[in-house]
Amino acid sequence: MHTIITNMYFENKVVWIIGASSGIGAALAKQLAREKALLIITARNIDKLQSLANELTQLTACVVLPADIARRDTLHSIVEDSLRQFGHIDILIHSAGIGQRSMATGTSLAVYDQLMEVNFFAPLTITQYLLPHFKQSGKGHIVAVSSMSGLMGFPGRSGYVASKHALKGYFETLQVEHDIPDFYITIVSPGRINTPLPLSALTADGQPYNKMDHAQLNGIPVEICAAKICGAIIRKKKHIFIARKERYLYWLRILFPAAYYHIARKAGVKERNEDTA
Ligand SMILES: NC(=O)c1ccc[n+]([C@@H]2O[C@H](COP(=O)([O-])OP(=O)(O)OC[C@H]3O[C@@H](n4cnc5c(N)ncnc54)[C@H](OP(=O)(O)O)[C@@H]3O)[C@@H](O)[C@H]2O)c1
Repeated sequence: MHTIITNMYFENKVVWIIGASSGIGAALAKQLAREKALLIITARNIDKLQSLANELTQLTACVVLPADIARRDTLHSIVEDSLRQFGHIDILIHSAGIGQRSMATGTSLAVYDQLMEVNFFAPLTITQYLLPHFKQSGKGHIVAVSSMSGLMGFPGRSGYVASKHALKGYFETLQVEHDIPDFYITIVSPGRINTPLPLSALTADGQPYNKMDHAQLNGIPVEICAAKICGAIIRKKKHIFIARKERYLYWLRILFPAAYYHIARKAGVKERNEDTA
């Protein structure tokens, strides 16, 4: 177990985690439960949420609020439901997301719609509905789990990369626009984290990829990722990277762009060959 020193920063804070049934969201829920945060956990898979809640209620209060965030017309009432649970929200964590495994050529437009809806429009819409609450209470904190793919192109992920660029763009703008006194936004840019994200990643026709990549399995352990996110919340960080090699690729793109394009294109050729194998 990866432990963090928090001085009970999260005790009795109401934290709504969207995307809590698996991966980074579930790891955050476990960590925050140990810190005695009051949790609202959201995703589509009710069984997974319920079994997580059964585990966490031994430690703290945890409410299951199932939702499919791709259904934009339902999000207003879900936000109202979330506020009814404990009367307010201190921290909102956008961790829901879907990946992609397909080259742009041949990928159906419906796949782009789905990626943008879940990875961008849903967190945007939920945030827009919650901002008046944060404004009224004069405080709040939003965590947006973006990706290193929100900072540069990556082969086989055109729609995912676009959705994460949009997500980062929206939240970075909100950071410099808002006038709420005690309000913070933390953008998280992970590289590869060992979670089941590739299993549900969309392929060219929208079918799930259903495989784990070697690189994903060797990614940063999810508990370390969750601990770093908790630390960033406490320190009210604006943007954090949780990455290994991808971090160097990012700096290479800024300092030596030609080298970045060379490496990224090579990765693209490899990905394309695997795609057509
Ligand atoms: N793992 C990585 O290497 C990595 C790297 C960079 C960024 N990220 C980002 O980290 C976030 C968490 O991903 P993860 O790695 O933890 O993957 P994960 O284990 O697949 O978790 C994704 C979560 O999103 C939820 N979700 C997906 N579609 C949803 C929908 N329509 N409505 C509600 N919830 C939905 C899933 O729950 P249900 O299926 O139950 O709905 C699940 O709880 C994502 O935004 C991802 O893009 C991950």
